[in-house]
Amino acid sequence: MKTVLGKQTPSRRGVKEKVKVKFAFVTNIIQTEDVRLKDFHPIIGRILPLWLWDQIFIWLAKKGWGFWCVAKYHVLDKAEGYTIIVRLTAKQVVSRKHLRLAKETILKACLYAQNELGVEIIGLGSLAKFITNEGEYLKKHGVHIAVTHGDAYAVASGIAGIQTMEKQFQLQNPVIAVIGAYGKIGRAMTLLLTKQGYKVIAMGRSVKRLKAVQVESGNKITITTDMKEALGNSQLAIATTSSPESIITEEMIELGRAYYLYDLGQPYNLFPEQYWNLIKQGYNIVRVDGGFEKKNGHSIDIQCWMRLNPGIMYACFVETVLQALAQDFDNYVGPVDLDHVQITKQRAKKWGFSHDALTCFNVPLKEVVSQASVLQKVAQQQAVKVDWQPSLGGLSRVTTML
Ligand SMILES: NC(=O)c1ccc[n+]([C@@H]2O[C@H](COP(=O)([O-])OP(=O)(O)OC[C@H]3O[C@@H](n4cnc5c(N)ncnc54)[C@H](OP(=O)(O)O)[C@@H]3O)[C@@H](O)[C@H]2O)c1
Repeated sequence: MKTVLGKQTPSRRGVKEKVKVKFAFVTNIIQTEDVRLKDFHPIIGRILPLWLWDQIFIWLAKKGWGFWCVAKYHVLDKAEGYTIIVRLTAKQVVSRKHLRLAKETILKACLYAQNELGVEIIGLGSLAKFITNEGEYLKKHGVHIAVTHGDAYAVASGIAGIQTMEKQFQLQNPVIAVIGAYGKIGRAMTLLLTKQGYKVIAMGRSVKRLKAVQVESGNKITITTDMKEALGNSQLAIATTSSPESIITEEMIELGRAYYLYDLGQPYNLFPEQYWNLIKQGYNIVRVDGGFEKKNGHSIDIQCWMRLNPGIMYACFVETVLQALAQDFDNYVGPVDLDHVQITKQRAKKWGFSHDALTCFNVPLKEVVSQASVLQKVAQQQAVKVDWQPSLGGLSRVTTML
């Protein structure tokens, strides 16, 4: 896809003219495999091995070509958007070895958006916010336009998503585990869900930071550093960590019970391969894609869908679009302001955005659940076969799958 060039426009803060607001969404590649997607290099992507792509990304970034403006589009004739992909994977972005390179590349992408494309609002996607210290690093190094991490609307979208799960699976007033509870999204979801009357178990790796959220909640939440405990004592879990790896493993879950997981992670917190492996072993997990939004009525063609079905947008992307439509040139980069969550919700309602029908890895959830239940049954039957098998002392029980 070709690079989009644009002219620089001076900041219009406070100027009431009828010019489209320009905004850019800057995000990293999620996984190396993404290079093979239709929006990137579908042919050459398959020809070259993935390990070579990893090296190409680093080489390009070192040369100063580590970002790519992949799309330019119009939003309801009121705003003009650009999508800029930083050609480094989530793993590379958070690796100690490439941290500095990744930060500098994200900065270059943002400066390009500001100075060359003339955008007035930048939205940071995936881990671009995480490693720039929520935009603070960008502000210190010459980015003077509005920056948003988009997490306020990710929270609003996430709450709508879990409430749909609650209804669809008749989980009445479930105990909710928030994995990554002191992260920006995790903290705000923990506090808002507690306010709404849910019993919340907050999980994270730092007791000190968990305790800070506990105090903020008015001591209404339970905290734990043990993922197994959080998953085991809840009926629904929200995974919202910045881990570049799949974090839910066999040791953390049990056979014979259902887990409902709302996965907001980008990269996912439970990867497809790991998910299907667990299902094939007989585990019962209903996993839902978190923060997947659709626009009702007149849709927006953002041209580059980044691992999503056409028409679907990430909630943080939507918040950037909504901010442009509202001509709001403030920064939203620190901890999520709970009032701003409500504002983004109202904006979304006004412009017709809402949570998409539930999916799992972009496939309608119903289809995944029925495919999963077939595989779980096969696993159960196999378990029964090995359940009773001759041993030295006759028939003995070997494993109990469910
Ligand atoms: N779907 C969407 O539309 C959407 C929108 C916005 C964001 N997101 C995604 O949501 C996730 C969270 O975003 P955020 O802005 O809230 O990030 P954040 O503020 O950086 O918080 C992430 C938290 O994850 C924790 N964490 C990292 N690895 C972990 C692990 N292995 N086990 C437990 N906790 C772990 C970190 O805690 P430590 O300090 O202990 O490392 C941190 O507190 C990211 O993946 C982001 O890309 C998705």
